[in-house]
Amino acid sequence: MPEAAAIAARHIPVLRDRVVDLARPLGARVEAPRFLDATLGLGGHSQALLEACPTAELLGLDRDREALALASARLAPFGARVHTMHSRFSASCKALDELGWQSVDFALIDIGVSSMQLDEGQRGFSLHANGPLDMRMDQGEGPSAADLVNTLPFEKLREIIATLGEDPMAQRIARAICEARARAPIRETLALADIVSQAYPRAWRAKSRHHPATRTFQALRMVVNNELGELETFLDSILARLSPGGRLCVITFHSLEDRLVKRSMRRWASGCLCPPHAPVCRCHHQPEVELLTKKPLVADREELARNPRASSAKLRACEKLAVPQALPTTEERDQESV
Ligand SMILES: C[S@@+](CC[C@H](N)C(=O)[O-])C[C@H]1O[C@@H](n2cnc3c(N)ncnc32)[C@H](O)[C@@H]1O
Ligand SMILES: [Zn+2]
Repeated sequence: MPEAAAIAARHIPVLRDRVVDLARPLGARVEAPRFLDATLGLGGHSQALLEACPTAELLGLDRDREALALASARLAPFGARVHTMHSRFSASCKALDELGWQSVDFALIDIGVSSMQLDEGQRGFSLHANGPLDMRMDQGEGPSAADLVNTLPFEKLREIIATLGEDPMAQRIARAICEARARAPIRETLALADIVSQAYPRAWRAKSRHHPATRTFQALRMVVNNELGELETFLDSILARLSPGGRLCVITFHSLEDRLVKRSMRRWASGCLCPPHAPVCRCHHQPEVELLTKKPLVADREELARNPRASSAKLRACEKLAVPQALPTTEERDQESV
């Protein structure tokens, strides 16, 4: 597939070297490590991982069939070391079951849209190339962005744009959308981009570094694809499928997503989870992971110069403890219950 080769040639995934550095020790520790890349995208991270760990096998998932086809072509030279499946990452455990893998040594998600999705007008994510207002990553499944924009009540639209888009102009934007759709349904990306842009005060529009509709588009995309729900389900289930000593690496582009990842990893890494005022521990929670990133890793200046989209990327990683921490003895438990 020459097109795949061309895309692959100019595509360097975000924080690639950091991801590879986190995975490389597993290649040395485990004879034939198993990797899960649950957001295959264009296959850039997977390719780098397979090159860095020559005995590793990898399962790649994506909910976008077009991305899956491109990545599969890109990774074809690795032959039987690569398995790909069309799946959401919330269903990673099911995908692992299908392959007969009980556990993995390294799991990665690099959340969000791929550059291919963003650039192609027909996918409906682009602010610059016109196309149908779609935004569904798994083409054709569930309501599109046009369905939401033309049917959601004003208050719901405002709330989505304010919370997921973190746009201070949410009220004005939601009102402008409702007025526009009363005249005619909003069906195309550039029509919506223009409506949002016009809703901004002129002075704000002039000083903004990004297109004024960037945040609204992001908010709609997150709802259309249930992105926070996908992440929560993934975080709730993946730890059980990491092998002892296995590592989890999550790259996010949105503060709400990063907060979910931070909270989950901190909870897994902590001992007692009882409320601070509890006189004795009753939860008996033991640390399950060690944090590998106390603060999120971010792109350096060189990467930002090459890829400005990396500016909001945050990477957090943890390692599952090899030996489960000892549970309290019966004596200790008895003492606590006195
Ligand atoms: C930022 S790109 C990943 C890029 C990839 N790491 C690379 O090196 O090319 C995100 C990809 O994740 C996919 N994706 C987003 N949410 C997903 C989900 N919940 N389940 C599966 N794939 C998802 C998108 O379709 C997109 O292809
Ligand atoms: Zn406790």
